Amino acid sequence: MNIPLVDLTAQYRAIKEEIDAAVLAVLESGRFILGPQVAAFETEVADYLGVKHAIGVASGTDALVIALRALGVGPGDEVIVPAYSFFATAGAVLSVGARPVFVDIQPRTYLMDVGQVEAVLTPRSKAILPVHLYGQPADMDEILALARAHGLAVVEDNAQAFGAEYKGRKTGALGEIGCLSFFPSKNLGGYGDGGMLTTNDDRLAETMRMLRTHGWKKKYFPEILGYNSRLDELQAAVLRVKLRHIDEWNRRRREIAAAYHRLLADLPLGLPVEAPERTHVYHLYMVAFERREEVQRQLKEAGIAAEVYYPQPLHLAEPCRALGYGPGQLPVAERASRQTLALPLYPEMDAERLQRVSDHLHTIVLGLQEQI
Ligand SMILES: Cc1ncc(COP(=O)(O)O)c(C=O)c1O
Repeated sequence: MNIPLVDLTAQYRAIKEEIDAAVLAVLESGRFILGPQVAAFETEVADYLGVKHAIGVASGTDALVIALRALGVGPGDEVIVPAYSFFATAGAVLSVGARPVFVDIQPRTYLMDVGQVEAVLTPRSKAILPVHLYGQPADMDEILALARAHGLAVVEDNAQAFGAEYKGRKTGALGEIGCLSFFPSKNLGGYGDGGMLTTNDDRLAETMRMLRTHGWKKKYFPEILGYNSRLDELQAAVLRVKLRHIDEWNRRRREIAAAYHRLLADLPLGLPVEAPERTHVYHLYMVAFERREEVQRQLKEAGIAAEVYYPQPLHLAEPCRALGYGPGQLPVAERASRQTLALPLYPEMDAERLQRVSDHLHTIVLGLQEQI
């Protein structure tokens, strides 16, 4: 029995009739870009997250770029970013010509270490870009308080945390702007690329709507330099179907994570820690182990997929080289990039598969320990 990291075909089989009908309806409609499906999906996401505006764009990366542009972040500006995330978090800052300023993460939650932010602020700081990494909300009260005190905007990288809650409020509704990704493997994923911006600010919403279509309000009359970054009708139709299931899927993810926690508690693995007063939606279940590559290799031999997210901290990525960071500067992020491994976790995963992953991990990890 092979166990994948995620099983999107199992998900499709479970909701095939709904999806097929939604896709066919779009094909019949003859509307493919920014039509009624996108408009309805935007309204539904806004209602779900409790925000005034939701704006569909072509990817999570574009959402980050457009958010920063709308806030006026550009050359000469600095944006505070955790050193451990998917590259797009830092790449978006570089794309708008600004400088990512990295802070380390907390060792057990992998979230931005807010205690380090104040020390890196300068008169050029414009925004803080926390990441709700692996589906767990960042320390938003502390981040928002710092931002208010220093006149900074907060852009939430909400790509991995659709449906997560912080003190009873959904992520993406807490800062000035939230950025979602609908990459297929995300908790709410399309059948292709997609993303969304969320905000309560009317002016920012208007600017972001302009930026996604060439910078115009009135067609063919651009007022600012924008992009072609739109969510398409097929993705929106698929995502509308999936939105109806997201709470159940996130509930199941939490259930599987809790089971992993129980099953793996006796092993010398770093298990993910849930910070208080938030609902983690377990986009990924990460374990940490010094000999990660060996564990990954042996799991693979047993037909179990476990993946590395991410093998390099952001400050050491090649496009950040000119910023002047070096190894050893952000040690917790560097250690995480050497030690973390994502275990299979998807809502359709059954108890038998869970037990199998746990059994193999026990054999592998205890075997490696004996070798030491
Ligand atoms: C934390 C984070 N930020 C940004 C992105 C970028 O999203 P996309 O792949 O839709 O461009 C992703 C997902 O890939 C992500 O995980």
